[in-house]
Amino acid sequence: MKLIFLGPPGAGKGTQAVEISKKLSIAHISTGDMLRRAIQLGTPTGLEAKGYIDAGKLVPDETVIAMVKERILEDDCKNGFLLDGFPRSVAQADALSSFTQIDCVVDIDVADEKLLARLTGRRVCKECQGTFHISSLVSEACPVCGGTLYQRDDDKPETIKNRLNVYHAQTAQLIEYYQTRGLLKEVDGDKAPGDVTQAVLAALGCK
Ligand code: AP5
Repeated sequence: MKLIFLGPPGAGKGTQAVEISKKLSIAHISTGDMLRRAIQLGTPTGLEAKGYIDAGKLVPDETVIAMVKERILEDDCKNGFLLDGFPRSVAQADALSSFTQIDCVVDIDVADEKLLARLTGRRVCKECQGTFHISSLVSEACPVCGGTLYQRDDDKPETIKNRLNVYHAQTAQLIEYYQTRGLLKEVDGDKAPGDVTQAVLAALGCK
């Protein structure tokens, strides 16, 4: 199965992608994670991406399209994949359809007012990359592996505002894009994470 998760920053795409990709035994491809890894490694892609990510803007289409085109050829994608954070523009969606066929697009819908609190409270584990919210943490260590938790640089209120603006200006139009093509399923993301997972599975017809 080849899936796309759409949704604004903080909707829970990453949180749900971890669960759903495990359940369906498909690869989880997060372009945000790939770009952050490239920045950490200091690759040419990382050096190019850093300024855009820090400003809350989209990394240029050509760079991200080339990255995804190459990634989906890897062995772990043979059974399918879940794209988390790609496509994010009509140009990316058009490019994607030129090199693969998507089975279903899930839009995780959460109102903007809820997203700021989710993102400013997000903490990520340096070791296992797990994502948590400060409201569920009982200590400063990762509840899964004991690793160090950090706050993403782009989770500052000013950058979050830019990311939301970019989402509404450039990415939200993909909801209609995929609706027109008969691929879209809508899921209410403003529920407990486990309930959202059940709703996604139900939408995909594999509960
Ligand atoms: P990316 O890393 O993809 O960020 P994003 O799309 O802004 O999404 P987030 O990771 O912020 O949120 P999420 O929806 O995954 O939510 P999460 O599950 O973590 O991209 C970062 C940057 O990279 C972009 O700004 C851009 O510069 C660049 N980039 C990436 N892809 C690109 C592309 N295709 N083209 C161009 N540039 C690209 O959850 C958030 C918080 O909420 C957590 O604390 C979590 O614990 C909590 N939470 C999750 N679910 C729930 C729930 N149901 N109820 C309550 N809290 C919840």
